[in-house]
Amino acid sequence: MKRILVTGSVGQIGSELTMALRNKYGNDNVVAGVNKTMPTGELKDSGPFEIVNCTEIEAVNNVVKKYEIDTIYHLAALLSAVAENNPRLAWEVNVNALVKVLEIAREHRCAVFTPSSIGAFGPTTPPDNTPQDTLQRPTTMYGVTKVSGELLCDYYYYKFRVDTRGLRYPGIISYVTPPGGGTTDYAVHIFYEAIKNKQYTCFLKEGTKLDMMYMPDALDAAINLMEADPGKLIHRNAFNVTAMSFAPEAIEAEVKKLIPGFTMDYRVDPLRQSIADSWPNHMDDSVARQEWGWQPVYDLPAMCADMIEKLTIKLKL
Ligand code: SER
Repeated sequence: MKRILVTGSVGQIGSELTMALRNKYGNDNVVAGVNKTMPTGELKDSGPFEIVNCTEIEAVNNVVKKYEIDTIYHLAALLSAVAENNPRLAWEVNVNALVKVLEIAREHRCAVFTPSSIGAFGPTTPPDNTPQDTLQRPTTMYGVTKVSGELLCDYYYYKFRVDTRGLRYPGIISYVTPPGGGTTDYAVHIFYEAIKNKQYTCFLKEGTKLDMMYMPDALDAAINLMEADPGKLIHRNAFNVTAMSFAPEAIEAEVKKLIPGFTMDYRVDPLRQSIADSWPNHMDDSVARQEWGWQPVYDLPAMCADMIEKLTIKLKL
C-alpha cells in the first residue's frame, strides 16, 4: 500500500486530489500537507494533516520520515497571475521548494508527481495541436518556473533515478475549491455568476481559445499517470493533457442553453489577456494517450451540465 504526502492539499487541485487518493489508498495512508490555510470539513476529518512549508527542507523531511512516505504529490504552487505580480515569491515556491522536495525524494526513494501547465509554453510555441516535444520559451514567470520544474524533475530521474512524473495541465474547472489567481479562472467564475446573477463579465476577450479540463478528469490523470507501468513511459515530465479547448463565447453559449436568460459581456484584464495570448490554443495530447492510456471523460457540454447541477446544490446550502 502506498504512503502518500500531498503538498498544497487545501488548494484548487489538492483539496480534491487528497480525497480521491484517500478513497483509493485508505484515509490513513494519505497525509494532507498544509501551510497557511488549515483544512476544514471532510478534508480535515478524514485523515492525517501536517503543517509543512515546502520551502523548509527539514519540515518536508520530518513528515516524510514520520509517515514513511513513498509518494509525494507536490501541488504547492502559485498560479499564473499571482506569479506575475510576485515573481520572486513564485520562484521561491514553484522552483526552490520543488528542489527541496526532489532532494527529500532522492534521499528516501519517493516517487514524485509535479503538475506543469499550458503555461510552460510561450508565444513561439506552435499554438495549434501543440506537440509534446516543442519550443518552450514562456514569457511569464509562471511559465519560467514550470519549464524549470519539468527540467528539474527530468534531471532527478535521469541522474538519480527518482521516479518523477508530471502533466501539463490546462485550465482546471471545478465546483469545490475556487482557483486563486489563474488566467483560466474565468471558466470557473462564469458558473458562480451565471447561477447567482445570470450575468458574467469576462476578463478575457472573445476568441481567446485555451485548453481546459473538468476536475474528475484532472484527478484521474494524476492518479493514472502515477500508477502507469514505468516500462511504457518514454516521457516523464511533463505530458500534454487536455479534454476540451474553447474561447469565452463557446462556454457562454453552452451555459445559455442550461440557464436561459444568461448574458455575458467583456472587461478585459490586460495582464491575464497577455498571459493567455502567450499560451497555446490547443495541445496535442496523443503521447499521453499512447504511453499511459490518457482518456478524458468530460467534454464542454458534459462539464457544463455537471458544473451547473453540482454548483447549484452547493450554493443553495
Ligand atoms: N490554470 C492555470 C493558470 O491559469 C494554468 O496552469 O494559472
